[in-house]
Amino acid sequence: MEIASDIAQRIEKLEEKYKNSGQDLGSYLDGLLHQRYLTYWDYIHLDTLLSLQIPKTYFPDEEIFIMYHQITELYFKLIIHEQKQIIDDKLQKASFFIQKVNRINNYFKALISSFEIMINGMEKEQFLHYRMSLLPASGFQSAQYRMIEFYATPMENLTHFTVRDQMSNKNSLEELYENVYWKKGATNTETGEKTLTLKQFEYRYTPRFMRITKSVKKSTIYHKYLQLPEKEKESPVLIEALKSLDVNANVHWPLMHMGSAYRYLRKEKNNIDATGGTNWKEYLPPSFQKVIFFPEIWNEEEKENWGKQWVDHIFNPEKK
Ligand code: HEM
Repeated sequence: MEIASDIAQRIEKLEEKYKNSGQDLGSYLDGLLHQRYLTYWDYIHLDTLLSLQIPKTYFPDEEIFIMYHQITELYFKLIIHEQKQIIDDKLQKASFFIQKVNRINNYFKALISSFEIMINGMEKEQFLHYRMSLLPASGFQSAQYRMIEFYATPMENLTHFTVRDQMSNKNSLEELYENVYWKKGATNTETGEKTLTLKQFEYRYTPRFMRITKSVKKSTIYHKYLQLPEKEKESPVLIEALKSLDVNANVHWPLMHMGSAYRYLRKEKNNIDATGGTNWKEYLPPSFQKVIFFPEIWNEEEKENWGKQWVDHIFNPEKK
């Protein structure tokens, strides 16, 4: 039988490939002969994906709550995927940086614009019932949300605002980690007792978080930006992209998220307790957390007014 020359060429290449790794091409061709055709549903593991929405109660809206969290976690994974490529980059070109940061911004924009699904897409009555079956779990325990922060900026920028000016890269990672803003937010200021939500989160993820923070001690996105050659670093497009990322991650998403806490948990007199046990009204506002990934690209006034649009929105609506 005559074998077409383009096929023969491919076979030669395959022979070369398998020979180089000490493998036998014939056996692999047998495998190809018997192999099933790939389907869409197998490729993306659709059955597994659609089997992961398992409500704790009979309230139909709980499924919306579960699915939207899962969607968000997948976007977080996409964000981390791009962050890791910036961290591993050796070429130090602004163009590469810009492409990756723009992708991250697109993911954040998708999350910010879809958060309405949480704010107005569920019945308040149902939410207030099924949430009681979820105690003490909270989105606070999203490890990927924390990883995005660890990959973005050095630990000292993630410490609680009350101690941040006393913290620097001279403190040990363990010390910085103990003072991270979200641990303080979930600790009773009077008794020093950590919430159960925090204790469980620490028990499950501290070893992994410490591994990550050690591995990016000098190579977070912020380090990588500061290490760029002067000419690349000055790129106005890059600076704009980084500013958008900082605002998307630390103001816009947190504001949309806080909108859901306001919709479901706010009451005229006493607010409803959050499942994670933080004093959420004081903990969640970006103007109080003041997390800024890339301080060098902002001026003092901008840093001072970080996230203030929320304060204006709530207390001075006419200033909008
Ligand atoms: C009705 C919808 C939601 C409400 C009412 C809500 C409420 C809250 C509250 C009150 C907190 C403070 C921690 C606590 O005491 O529990 C919190 C933290 C958090 N939630 Fe949500 N949440 C909602 C949806 C979501 C979704 C869809 C995500 C996506 C993963 C999410 C992710 C987070 C994260 C990452 C934190 C920690 C924020 C930080 O440390 O600054 N939440 N949430």
